[in-house]
Amino acid sequence: MFSRYKKEPAAPAKPAAAPTPKPVSTAAAASNPTPTAPQPEAPKPSMRKPTQTASAQSAPADKERKRKERLGEIKLELHRELLDNLNLSALESASEQDLRNEIGAIASEILQERAIVLNREERALINQELYDEVTGLGPLEPLLKDDTISDILINGPHQIFIERSGKLQVSDTTFKDEKHLLRIIDKIVSAVGRRVDESNPYVDARLQDGSRFNAMVPPVAVDGSLVSIRKFKKDKLGIDDLVNFGAFSEEMAAYLQAAVSTRLNVIVSGGTGSGKTTTLNALSSFIDNSERILTIEDTAELQLQQIHVGRMESRPPNVEGKGEVSPRDCLKNALRMRPDRIIVGETRGEEVIDMLQAMNTGHDGSMTTIHANNPRDGIARLENMIAMAGIEMPIKAVRSQISSAVNLIVQASRLQDGSRRMTSITEITGMEGDVISMQEVFRFQRTGLGPDNKIIGHFTATGVRSHFSERFRLWGYDLPSSIYEPTAG
Ligand SMILES: Nc1ncnc2c1ncn2[C@@H]1O[C@H](COP(=O)(O)OP(=O)(O)OP(=O)(O)O)[C@@H](O)[C@H]1O
Ligand SMILES: [Mg+2]
Repeated sequence: MFSRYKKEPAAPAKPAAAPTPKPVSTAAAASNPTPTAPQPEAPKPSMRKPTQTASAQSAPADKERKRKERLGEIKLELHRELLDNLNLSALESASEQDLRNEIGAIASEILQERAIVLNREERALINQELYDEVTGLGPLEPLLKDDTISDILINGPHQIFIERSGKLQVSDTTFKDEKHLLRIIDKIVSAVGRRVDESNPYVDARLQDGSRFNAMVPPVAVDGSLVSIRKFKKDKLGIDDLVNFGAFSEEMAAYLQAAVSTRLNVIVSGGTGSGKTTTLNALSSFIDNSERILTIEDTAELQLQQIHVGRMESRPPNVEGKGEVSPRDCLKNALRMRPDRIIVGETRGEEVIDMLQAMNTGHDGSMTTIHANNPRDGIARLENMIAMAGIEMPIKAVRSQISSAVNLIVQASRLQDGSRRMTSITEITGMEGDVISMQEVFRFQRTGLGPDNKIIGHFTATGVRSHFSERFRLWGYDLPSSIYEPTAG
């Protein structure tokens, strides 16, 4: 009954056109085909009163679980048959509707043959999943489409964590097995001309929608492939959104506007996933439209609103170890491209030398991020990066270079309740002897923990007047002295 998309049954002479994309083959994956399924989490002894008895919940939960298992099995079977039946090369030119119709038709035929009865909702779900499997990234598709999810973290085929509103939770989506997961990884990385296998066990890539993707496959990943995806947000959070979300205060926003507009060199410091890139992106909105900005990133995430922007993406070496274009190469070249400002997505290696030099020599107003838990550690990190780049300079000279290049450290933190906040704005004011002198101008003052484990606190000025207040005034950003007054919360 199906049309042109169905493979001709009478073509046994050419079995080579196997539609199943080749899985990423690793010895471990082959030898370890069924990683143990995650055990349901053992109930933790709780000191708080339970909300519902376990037995009251278990019957419907059991039924739901069984229904899901059954659907899962049917889907796998259908998927296998579908791949055997569909002519994938004809599919490439099919319209979405044609393809959906086709999948629906094949699925119903198979269901009918096997006398499997599904309700309308289950049928729609299965058809959608089959469609995602054939055209997209299978179980990842719905997670990628869900805008409320910001991160997807996969620990082997049977465990997917997702982050929503700053909180990690286990998703009920899983892959069939490691082979299935490897097939999806392979689909992603081969689309960007990369390969991942036993000899190149990890890879960075960018998904079509701009999301950042990293995967590591067995045997280096012991219990099945590890994947992390940072979803690309089409509408990046702007300054107003961040103020509304309580990431920083109006006063801090006004101060940051003055700092960026008067071309202070800014470093955004923070831990993994603390909101560094988001902050950098929001700060960049204060840059004037007339300036020429060059951005350098490993994976292009920044979305600048200005008209005069040149974006660069560094490139790792290819499989033969050739073709690398490091962030430092990009930065060196950027300096020849007459930028007004340079924004480096993250400084973590030898490019630190060129970054500091750029900040010191006419490209003031440049910005970057570093991984550090507080501003003082941020400085130590810069010192370490310089030492590791093989620059032999007395520590005093290194510090003096840093203190004259960097004006401001903005600390981003992900607090234990999942909220992301700017916990400190610290100015670098010069050197005292061998030590870089710093002053904190704003901070997040924690005052307690709410009943729902939400952190209670408020933003406050520390009472110190900005070292740059005269500069702000001369550039037309005459901030009222009241913004430097501490608030009681
Ligand atoms: N203040 C905020 N409120 C809510 N969500 C936020 C906030 N800041 C950032 N996010 C979200 O948190 C996620 C991580 O943010 P971001 O990419 O900026 O972190 P990062 O520190 O650059 O991470 P990495 O270390 O992986 O580069 C993103 O999905 C972003 O949209
Ligand atoms: Mg980042």
